[in-house]
Amino acid sequence: MGIVVTVDGPAGAGKSTVAKKLAKELGWRYLDTGALYRAVALTALDRGLPTHDGEGLGALTATLAIRQDEEGRTFVGDDDVSSELRTERVSQAASQVSAHPSVRRALVDVQRRVADDGPLICEGRDMGTVIFPDAALKVFLDASPRTRAERRRDDLQARGEDVDLDELVSQIEERDHRDANRDTAPLLQQDDQIAIDTSEMSIERVLERLRELVVERCENGGTDNRLGNCLDSRIPSGP
Ligand code: DC
Repeated sequence: MGIVVTVDGPAGAGKSTVAKKLAKELGWRYLDTGALYRAVALTALDRGLPTHDGEGLGALTATLAIRQDEEGRTFVGDDDVSSELRTERVSQAASQVSAHPSVRRALVDVQRRVADDGPLICEGRDMGTVIFPDAALKVFLDASPRTRAERRRDDLQARGEDVDLDELVSQIEERDHRDANRDTAPLLQQDDQIAIDTSEMSIERVLERLRELVVERCENGGTDNRLGNCLDSRIPSGP
């Protein structure tokens, strides 16, 4: 495993935006693990597989060729499904699908393998707790449900969808509850994760804080050589 920075937290805390930007800035790889669960959910919905069928979903996940490219686009086989993953229907289904241990198990290696290709910033719910417990830097981003719902509303409005804010708040709370209370790999913050409440922070400020943390860890390479020389690291370029 190469250098790994994990960013966990609930939906709408700002994880994707900042993790993607920082990875780009540093020339590191970026992995959006929510998109993997979304891709499983989308395929299950397309094939009429119920989201409570843990066995069927586990078998489906094990056979799906899901991958993300350098731009963060998600593919199932050769199909770019990125834009189909962002609907509310897929969000709710992804949260249900991701509660099955069989599905999570089938995605463990898919996620860990990405860290073999160079320094990585990944985001999700269990990156620092389950997938990369030895990551060099672990961050937990949070924000109030209302702030997260407002961000989601702004995203949807930018895409021409009109939505009710209170409805979004209750969808977010429903999803939080499910993600935090499942038996396998629940969303939870641990002591070795650095918590940042982004409710009152701009994306730029969150990005700046994350950058500071990475640099701080790099400078402390002597005591924590998991991040030693990290700022000189780049994804190895191909032949
Ligand atoms: O981050 P997101 O909203 O795209 O994630 C969609 C769902 O996938 C989320 O409700 C919970 C699940 N998920 C998970 O269980 N573990 C992860 N590492 C990432 C996402």
